[in-house]
Amino acid sequence: MNKANIESRILELTKGLSRNEFQQNAEELAGMIELLQADPCQPASYLEIGAGCGHVARVLDSFFEFEKVYLIDDQKHYSGRLTQIPKAVEWIGNSMSPEAVDTIDQWGQRFDLILIDGGHAYENVKSDTHLILRCVDDPCWVAFHDARHGEVRAWLKELHEGLIDGLTHVQLFGRRDDGLKNLSVFRWHKPAVKG
Ligand SMILES: C[S@@+](CC[C@H](N)C(=O)[O-])C[C@H]1O[C@@H](n2cnc3c(N)ncnc32)[C@H](O)[C@@H]1O
Repeated sequence: MNKANIESRILELTKGLSRNEFQQNAEELAGMIELLQADPCQPASYLEIGAGCGHVARVLDSFFEFEKVYLIDDQKHYSGRLTQIPKAVEWIGNSMSPEAVDTIDQWGQRFDLILIDGGHAYENVKSDTHLILRCVDDPCWVAFHDARHGEVRAWLKELHEGLIDGLTHVQLFGRRDDGLKNLSVFRWHKPAVKG
């Protein structure tokens, strides 16, 4: 499916939702989906930190038909449903808390597609990045939303510079005139043992 068709399908799937209920730019998300679909190995397990109302997970699931979907959100912005698809497992809480670490460890899952879209403060997105390193599969796509947001951008700059072994930037989706959105996609591979 080409990018234009993917974007039309996203718009169809999210028709009638408010900007709060679905906070992605359809064109950017379509770009990421096109990138992932071109890979011989399709993602089967999805984790989203900052899942909001759960519509991003629902949309991505309609393209990839994940085996597993796990969602984390503190529900401070929305008090409605976090889960839009029956198979999704949700945890409501602060992703920066020790309980989030316990939850990830108790789940004992490995994910091959992870979207980080929770708190946008530098310390929050940094903490979320370290949290997901506990459950990345090899390989794993790791996407950051609102990549042009000042504090997210500051953290991503460090990642671009190679701060975390195994995590390399692949592509940025978005336009400069499109508010503060933008999806930045990285690939994680288990680093080779040195020495
Ligand atoms: C920008 S919204 C993104 C919603 C969804 N990903 C979308 O695109 O529609 C960010 C979400 O992350 C949640 N959030 C912010 N900080 C968080 C934290 N420290 N732990 C868990 N969730 C958090 C907010 O309550 C909100 O639901």
